[in-house]
Amino acid sequence: MKNTVVIGAQWGDEGKAKITDILAEDADFIVRFQGGCNAGHTVVYNNKTYKFHLVPSGILYKDKVCFLGNGVVIHPETFEKEIDELKSQDVDLSGLKISPLATLTMPYHIDIDGLSEKAMKSSKIGTTKKGIGPTYSDKIARIALKVQDLFCDETLEQRLDVILPLNNFILEKVHNTKTYTKEEVLNYCKKYKQILEPYVCFDWQNLIREFKNKKILFEGAQGVMLDVDWGTYPYVTSSNTISGYAACGSGFSVSQIDDVIGVYKAYVTRVGEGPFVTELLDKDGETIQQKGNEFGTTTGRKRRTGWFDAVCGKYTALVGGVTKVALTKLDVFDDFEKIKIAIAYKDKRDGKLYKDYPTNTFIHKYLEPVYETYDGWMKKTSDIKDFEDLPKNAKKYIKKIEELLEVPVCIISVGADRTQTIYR
Ligand code: GDP
Ligand code: IMO
Ligand code: MG
Repeated sequence: MKNTVVIGAQWGDEGKAKITDILAEDADFIVRFQGGCNAGHTVVYNNKTYKFHLVPSGILYKDKVCFLGNGVVIHPETFEKEIDELKSQDVDLSGLKISPLATLTMPYHIDIDGLSEKAMKSSKIGTTKKGIGPTYSDKIARIALKVQDLFCDETLEQRLDVILPLNNFILEKVHNTKTYTKEEVLNYCKKYKQILEPYVCFDWQNLIREFKNKKILFEGAQGVMLDVDWGTYPYVTSSNTISGYAACGSGFSVSQIDDVIGVYKAYVTRVGEGPFVTELLDKDGETIQQKGNEFGTTTGRKRRTGWFDAVCGKYTALVGGVTKVALTKLDVFDDFEKIKIAIAYKDKRDGKLYKDYPTNTFIHKYLEPVYETYDGWMKKTSDIKDFEDLPKNAKKYIKKIEELLEVPVCIISVGADRTQTIYR
């Protein structure tokens, strides 16, 4: 295996965790480099379902190091819950390590996220309310706490004297709500210092040195269309989700990245607000939602659904630097008579055609998809192991996608289980 970055190439929930879990078998080091507990990652193996929000999806293999890099934001309570749940499923966490440079999501971040959404009314983003935006805002504004701050009383006290009044100001003056005392926050920090301590890797520089020449798998969260620079801004998350961030958020360098696997569903889903040109509000959309069991892992919200969007797909392959495609959930189409792919957008106002993705998302409400329609295969694919054994029309659909994206489809997923995977 080459050093590989796995990224979502749509709006998240593409099945990144399944692909990461599979690739992790050949990796030595698996690192999450961005996002936080807004992520909901599911791995199915041996009839058991494992859910991850922060812990890298490679943790099911015993002999690997799984690292939460500096680019990740960590909500300590969610971390505690997640490791308790994994321990109850007999998952060995001895390879789990946390960068002391990762940023902490604090209780006031969660409050501010929810309150901001409420204040924005109909313009809300539809966030996961996990404090992601406020945490990354504080990080960039240089008023965040890092994991390492928990381990130095003097730093923590000094930092809180600066940080807390600013966050309390927002809570009190903007949202007219409860503020936090320094004592409350210090107690919180004391409690979660103990929970995090066994995992924090203060010797991370040696860790990076040790694994520099081994096999590294970078696990992305969210998807390129949710990237804060490249996505459907402002309806995005607050981190960079593209492969370019893998080095920045992990401690490895860009020269150590060989391959980028872009994970695409055979259709598209989106949770939360924001433009979605191929969204289906009809029976087909409902059928995809039901057959694909499209409910958010983190919030339980119904995912919006639509046909595969090759305009977006080509764009995310470009800015994400995708070198190989993993196409998931092909089985969801097993009994669809007709399947569509958007190959362009048309502006309803003047008929203008867009073959390249228009980055001004405010005009998306005027765009309609230009579809090509394909015959379905009307056969069960979930037990198929070889590409050549797939029904003819399924192979045609896959080949069409790689032709449109101009990137080869190398992995095809036909079910949630680790074994329901076709390599090409
Ligand atoms: P992630 O956030 O990209 O890791 O994706 P999620 O785990 O949030 O959502 C993907 C869902 O689809 C999970 O419930 C997976 O178990 C499931 N899944 C993954 N691949 C396939 C597939 O090929 N077919 C089917 N039917 N389900 C899949
Ligand atoms: P995984 O890693 C799907 C969406 C939210 C919202 C927007 C901003 O499982 O693919 P945030 O809480 O990040 O400020 O919300 O981003 N979102 C996701 N959608 N999958 C995810 O993660 C997501 N993480 C955030 O629904 O629209
Ligand atoms: Mg998910």
